[in-house]
Parts: sequence; structure tokens; C-alpha cells
Amino acid sequence: MYRGAIIGLGNIGLYGHLPAYFHPDIRKEVKIIAGCDLSRENLERFQKLIPAAHLFTDAEKLFQYEKLDFVDICTPPVSHFNLIKKAALKKINILSEKPVTLELETLLQIKKLVLKNKLVFLPGHQYRYSPVWQKIISIIESGCIGRPYLIQFFVYRREANKGNEYWDPAWRSEIEISGGGIIVDHGSHLFYLASSILGKPEFVTAITNRLSHFKYSVEDTASINIQHEKGAAHLLLTWAAHDRKMEFRILGTDGEISAMENKITVIGIEGKEIVKLDKGLSGDSKHSDWYIPLFREFIDRLDKKNLSIDGMEEAITTTMLISASYKSAEIKKTVAIIG
Ligand SMILES: NC(=O)c1ccc[n+]([C@@H]2O[C@H](COP(=O)([O-])OP(=O)(O)OC[C@H]3O[C@@H](n4cnc5c(N)ncnc54)[C@H](O)[C@@H]3O)[C@@H](O)[C@H]2O)c1
Repeated sequence: MYRGAIIGLGNIGLYGHLPAYFHPDIRKEVKIIAGCDLSRENLERFQKLIPAAHLFTDAEKLFQYEKLDFVDICTPPVSHFNLIKKAALKKINILSEKPVTLELETLLQIKKLVLKNKLVFLPGHQYRYSPVWQKIISIIESGCIGRPYLIQFFVYRREANKGNEYWDPAWRSEIEISGGGIIVDHGSHLFYLASSILGKPEFVTAITNRLSHFKYSVEDTASINIQHEKGAAHLLLTWAAHDRKMEFRILGTDGEISAMENKITVIGIEGKEIVKLDKGLSGDSKHSDWYIPLFREFIDRLDKKNLSIDGMEEAITTTMLISASYKSAEIKKTVAIIG
């Protein structure tokens, strides 16, 4: 059994990750033995779910007193770097929620520590395991739309998701805690999805706005164009909408795929087909079932001592795109991605 601890027992820690750890496929190999959170109420909620777990309000003490095989970091973005660094220095394998860090320099420090200490590392990039995305990938791999060359993502939300009520529900709209707005929150998933199809990003042009949430200290809307090595991506992300939905379109040399939540339409060399899945990409934003394959992958890597840094490279691409988007919006110019 691998002994793990969760740091950050808020919405995603308790209601996204924990149910996935309880899945029969995962719980036979992993035991969550400890939890850490700044809020007593959240520790109590965690204890109700795992009565035998040890509780900490300070991650330093968790690392000092518990013998851990891995740690799962589910705190808001700006705290990730320090927590990951502490875990890596203690030679503890790491799962980290997205975005892993907000600056390339800090992520490169983490990469160094992960390599030096021979650790398994994976980011919380679980959208790649969603049934919609898995279906899209199988359609592309069937060859029916030819070579993909343009991806568009449209994310519409009414506001930033609230953080849990026992800490700081508004953190996503507070720059000091979130590190950014909808680019950090949603862009992080879409950046790695687009890059997985179109390859390395090369140039970014972005515009950010605060269109309706004037109390936010972050952008509520962003329009981002990315030139990748194999094509172009366009993202429109907004918390200023009047509905909650996500749409996207992938154009290729021989056809196209469009998806509106759970409905996928394919126009390919063999004509038009409509596929309907049970759930779309928005759901309740916890996506607990998508974490099961991510955790399975993490366990398999621990079993095989597979120290591949593909997850780290994906996190690096994501972080580079986040900072390049903000840079471009700030200087009002196209920014090159160097690396
Ligand atoms: N992968 C996804 O689809 C997905 C979905 C939602 C959230 N997330 C990510 O998960 C993270 C948490 O988001 P959330 O929605 O659960 O937020 P939340 O506000 O619900 O929970 C955050 C928790 O972290 C705790 N915390 C903050 N700093 C801490 C520290 N230094 N040590 C210990 N505990 C600390 C708070 O007390 C709070 O309980 C963010 O990075 C977010 O981007 C990812």
C-alpha cells in the first residue's frame, strides 16, 4: 500500500480527489493516512470521511512526522511551489493540482529537484482523461478529419467558481492567492490539451479584460491566440457569461470535429456523425471520475519506478503559456515562447 497525504482539503481535495481515492481500483493500492488544511472545519470534514487519518494545520509538521510515499497538493496556485519544494526535499513523490506553478523559474527548480531525488511527479491535468477528450483523440487517431491544424475553445461561466466556505471563497478572484484569473483557472487545462494535438507552442497573442466582475483583481475574460508548431489555437475564456457551457472545434485537412458539452459532431471523409456522451466537459467542476485514471497512472509509475518527466514537461508548457499570455496582454504584443 502506498501511504499518501492530501494538502488542501477544500472543494477539489475533499470532493474531487478523495472520492477517486475511495474507488475500488485505487483504494486497494493507496491509503490516505493524513490530511493538512489551514481550516479546522475542513480537517473535521476530512476526518469524518477518514476517521483514522492524522490531521495537520501546518504542512511542515506533516512532512516532519509522517512517513509518506506521496503527497497530493490541492491548495490554491500561489502556495504550490513552497509545498512541492518541501515534499521534493523530503524525497516524497508528488501529485500537484494545476497550475503547478505560475512562473517558469519556480517550475524549473521543481524539475531539478524531482530529477535529482528520482521522484514520480504528475500534475492534476485530468481533463485529458475525460470521456469527451478521449473520444476526440480516438476520432483524430482514426484519421477521419486528416491532420488537425486549428483548435478553438470557448469557455463560458457566470463567475469564478467559489473556493470552499471555510477558508477564502473568493480566492480565485484575488491576484495574491490565485496568481491570475480565468487564464490560470481554465487556460491551464486548455493549454495542455491544445499542445497535445498541435505540438510545441511558439507564439502567443492575448487580450485580457474585466468585463463584468469589477471587484475581481484578476481578468474575468481572455482571448488568446497561439501559434503551435503544427497549427493554431484560439481560446475565448470568460467568467462574464450568462450560462455555463464549453464548446470547441478542431479543424483538420479532411474534416472537423465540434463539441458542445456532451454532443460531438464529426464531419469527416465518411460523412457526418453525431456522438452523444453521458457528460460534457463542464459538469460540476470536481470531475472526480476523471481523477481515477490519473491516479491509476501515478500508481503504475510508482510500481514501475517510472520517472518519466512527461507530466513535468506538460506542466512547463502550461506555465509558459500562462505567463506568455499575461505578458502579451500587458505589453500588447505577440510574445515568443522560448524553451
Ligand atoms: N484539475 C481541476 O479540474 C481542478 C478543479 C478545481 C480546482 N483545482 C485546483 O485545486 C486547487 C484548489 O482549488 P479548490 O477549488 O479546491 O479551492 P478551495 O478553496 O475549495 O480549497 C483550498 C483549500 O486549501 C487550503 N489551503 C490553502 N493554503 C494552504 C496551505 N498553505 N496549507 C494547507 N492548506 C492550505 C484552504 O484552507 C482550503 O481549504 C487549485 O490549485 C485549483 O486550481 C483543479
